[in-house]
Amino acid sequence: MATNLPMNISSVGFSKIENRNASLNISQFINLARQVGPIIPSPNGNIYETLKCRENGPPGTYSSEYGKGLFPFHTDGAYMQVPPRFILLWCEGDYRRKTYVRNLGQTLAELGSYIYDAKFVVRRRTGHFYTSPRTVRMRRTIWRWDSHCMSPLGARSSAAVGQIMNSLEGADSGNSVDWLDASVVLIDNWNFSHARGTAPPDERARVIHRIYIGESNVLEEG
Ligand SMILES: [Fe+2]
Repeated sequence: MATNLPMNISSVGFSKIENRNASLNISQFINLARQVGPIIPSPNGNIYETLKCRENGPPGTYSSEYGKGLFPFHTDGAYMQVPPRFILLWCEGDYRRKTYVRNLGQTLAELGSYIYDAKFVVRRRTGHFYTSPRTVRMRRTIWRWDSHCMSPLGARSSAAVGQIMNSLEGADSGNSVDWLDASVVLIDNWNFSHARGTAPPDERARVIHRIYIGESNVLEEG
């Protein structure tokens, strides 16, 4: 049972950390992350990433498949043996486009246990490992889903992919993060998936700064 987590995060999957009207710089943003838990650097060693909407991205990224459109529901860092416990997002620029958050465990549990125990392989340059949408680590359940890095093993798991994709389609649904109100939001990345919504008319540059955060003994127990 989580204790002392920021308000609402265990029920809706995210919590507003900073108001839109608050001024912020990158070092303050990093400090906000450190107050939550240990920062997990990305594979290239960066402690934060700056993401922009773009038409094309490197192979294997959502931008390469969806361009500037909506992104389907997924969890971040599914390519890691232990994905980040939380992700901290700071939205700058044109903040009209929404982010959506949906309870992944609940969604997949409704499909049946064979779905969330389906077998996948995650291949990385540094090696590979096997996983399922649901894994348990030290009695904590971790839900993960990323169709780009999780390759199904066998016909049964391949069939599960279609069902999972169907149940997670419709990115403009779920609990919406209103960036008009919040500039920094903390997302529960073990229990909830998130998606980028559709673009507003005449969208200008939109920037998301992202920090991966590991488990925090201060905020949670059990
Ligand atoms: Fe993401």
